[in-house]
Amino acid sequence: MKSLVVYYSKSGNTRRVAEEIARAVGGELEELVEVGVKRSGALGFLRAGRDGMRGRASKIDAPKKRPADYDLLFIGSPVWGGNIVPAVRGYMTSADLASKPAAVFCTAGGASVERTLATLHSLTPTSRVLGELAVLQGELKSPEALSHRVATWAKEMVAAAGAREK
Ligand SMILES: Cc1cc2nc3c(=O)[nH]c(=O)nc-3n(C[C@H](O)[C@H](O)[C@H](O)COP(=O)(O)O)c2cc1C
Repeated sequence: MKSLVVYYSKSGNTRRVAEEIARAVGGELEELVEVGVKRSGALGFLRAGRDGMRGRASKIDAPKKRPADYDLLFIGSPVWGGNIVPAVRGYMTSADLASKPAAVFCTAGGASVERTLATLHSLTPTSRVLGELAVLQGELKSPEALSHRVATWAKEMVAAAGAREK
């Protein structure tokens, strides 16, 4: 089973979770890179929160991998302003996800996780979401527990995708 882990990360938390997933299931990584938006400094932070809250989609560098070449997609986003980040929205609304089974995840300070996961669900074509995972940034302080939780979930997603194929 070939898995692709697509994510955006500004400060590294979502990247860490994405890397744990990829390691657990032998998957490949696709990090989304925004084009033409400044996210640094106080203004960048404010703009990021506002863009997340308003449901903006941003332009991203052309993805290097094609979802059609994989059996399972993991798609992950930080929470910004109570919702998914513009880069992930840009990806999900422009990439051909090929109706592949998907598993969605987010990282957050602690709020609006349900809404963010619901958005990830709604942007995944035709109810192909196998499961979801939310990681709060406090959990990153316990690397072993985090690694175990993420790997267990990721392997469950692979098993669920495999069961669907039969
Ligand atoms: C602009 C901005 C807005 C944020 N808004 C929220 C929020 O609404 N709810 C929340 O729980 N965390 C929020 N956070 C915290 C991030 O979701 C959290 O730190 C996340 O793990 C960052 O992921 P990253 O390190 O992959 O960029 C926000 C962070 C930033 C930079």
